[in-house]
Amino acid sequence: MRGIRFYQCPTTILAHDSAVGGKTGINHPAGKNMIGTFYQPAAVVYDTEMLSSLPEEQVRSGMAEVIKHAFLSNPHWLDELLGTADITALTGSQLELHLSRGIAVKAAIVEEDALEQGARKFLNLGHTLAHAIEAHAGYGTVTHGEAVALGLAFDLLIGGHDRLEDYLKWCAANRYPLELLSDFDIRELLPYMKRDKKSSRGELVFIELADTGCPALRVLEEQEVISFYHKLGQKIKEVLG
Ligand SMILES: NC(=O)c1ccc[n+]([C@@H]2O[C@H](COP(=O)([O-])OP(=O)(O)OC[C@H]3O[C@@H](n4cnc5c(N)ncnc54)[C@H](O)[C@@H]3O)[C@@H](O)[C@H]2O)c1
Ligand SMILES: [Zn+2]
Repeated sequence: MRGIRFYQCPTTILAHDSAVGGKTGINHPAGKNMIGTFYQPAAVVYDTEMLSSLPEEQVRSGMAEVIKHAFLSNPHWLDELLGTADITALTGSQLELHLSRGIAVKAAIVEEDALEQGARKFLNLGHTLAHAIEAHAGYGTVTHGEAVALGLAFDLLIGGHDRLEDYLKWCAANRYPLELLSDFDIRELLPYMKRDKKSSRGELVFIELADTGCPALRVLEEQEVISFYHKLGQKIKEVLG
């Protein structure tokens, strides 16, 4: 059946992201999505009726990729999301609006750079730390989106984004497991981050975000990562009180 055409029918919020762009992948103990290829579906059929049965944890997971798209593109949309104290209470039509905006952001970047030689890397906002957490915790222990929520906080911190605190409050209100950060020893996460796909020579590569819509690649020294990680832990403690 190699090379057959196929249709993709996403059933999660998270998949508004993964169903666009033709990436396929499997996880490996050495790293997240470590083995895979690009193979475009003939079409994506997204029936949002399916989303009404998603458990709360999966709504939270998917909405982390939605807010990532907002951070990458549009401060007004970001304000709207940050003003949503309970993302599990969105109506069907509100959710559809957020998803169509997210898909538009992803599609525009993928059209420009399908094979991730440039701009597509920015979609990896939050993912250097997220993938390390998922691999280290054991796949399935932490949802992808929950890990992305923590990774996003890290990338906002290193960029000095002025909405970091509001974002952490939003995460807390929406019950993202921010307290998990203190469960991990950053030194144990470093080897995973050095094998990240954005890293070609074992450097530590992040997507920093100084302003909404302005992502940039940032290479950090080991010591810097450790110190930013501890700084984020402190900020989280302050926000959680
Ligand atoms: N975000 C991305 O761009 C991207 C890219 C590639 C891979 N991925 C990976 O995809 C994986 C997870 O994908 P996912 O969360 O979309 O799918 P999933 O199949 O893992 O679904 C998550 C859980 O929700 C349940 N579920 C799915 N649809 C449901 C529905 N409509 N109603 C009730 N329950 C439902 C599933 O049974 C499962 O328990 C992660 O490992 C992630 O890293 C993401
Ligand atoms: Zn993702």
